[in-house]
Amino acid sequence: MAIRTIEETSGLAAGAQLDVTARRVPRHIAFIMDGNGRWAKRRHQPRLFGHRAGTNNLRRVIEACAKAGIGVVTIYAFSTENWERSPEEVYGLFSILGEAIAREAPKLHENGVQIRHLGTLDSVPAGLTRRIKEALDLTRRNDRLILNVAFNYGGRAEIVHAVRQIIREGIPPEEIDERTISRYVYTAGLPDPDLIVRTAGEMRLSNFLLWQAAYAEYYSTPVFWPDFDEVELQRALDAYNARERRFGAVPSGAADAAEAHHDIANPNGTSAGVALH
Ligand code: FPP
Repeated sequence: MAIRTIEETSGLAAGAQLDVTARRVPRHIAFIMDGNGRWAKRRHQPRLFGHRAGTNNLRRVIEACAKAGIGVVTIYAFSTENWERSPEEVYGLFSILGEAIAREAPKLHENGVQIRHLGTLDSVPAGLTRRIKEALDLTRRNDRLILNVAFNYGGRAEIVHAVRQIIREGIPPEEIDERTISRYVYTAGLPDPDLIVRTAGEMRLSNFLLWQAAYAEYYSTPVFWPDFDEVELQRALDAYNARERRFGAVPSGAADAAEAHHDIANPNGTSAGVALH
């Protein structure tokens, strides 16, 4: 996999003036991949047809994120609330997920992608659990791009999990601050998401990354997830660039405040993109 310069990834001629402020790339982007069911319905197809198309779309989006120089990508694959759907849909989704992991994990590994899991594997069928664990193990040393798969994930449950762990480890209350919680949520060691993209038009967080989303920019598009392509990603990145991120500070202090919020870990902090093959 070739490391590409920002000139190559941005289409700027080498040596051209680069307006750094105008080319801010999120270090961490998160996707709420909504609209698979509606996409299928429009085509008079069952919902699982939409989930299959949505899963196939992941490769194109992840590749585009890598090219853009984004270091961490999080996808919301299955929420704790999704168990409420019909057993046919839930187990159909599990089967699509299992097939996708078996097919894609070796390629992601070749491309230096590290797969992480956010959530628990409680009640998840044994075969799928095994595939997930194998993919995590296979890719655990990679660091070109981190792909967090929020699967059987709920933001509130994640905070409960973190609090329980902190208590279990006997950390005294007066020593607990925001950094402590950040160290015990599933994204420990990673920067918080800068940009959360939701497809299919809803304006809800749906229990996604509640702790980590405190200062994230939020972008919603009416496009259904299976149709969210490179052009749509670029639109989201352009919208992100047009936002003024303040982190609660006055505009002139925004840059300093942003630095203060990005000092946890930056596995891929530059904006030079990498091309997956
Ligand atoms: C929301 O669409 C989508 C989901 C609940 C599942 C998203 C999961 C994937 C795209 C598969 C992920 C796969 C891997 C390999 C990580 P919806 O069913 O709520 O659509 P609707 O709102 O139009 O009904």
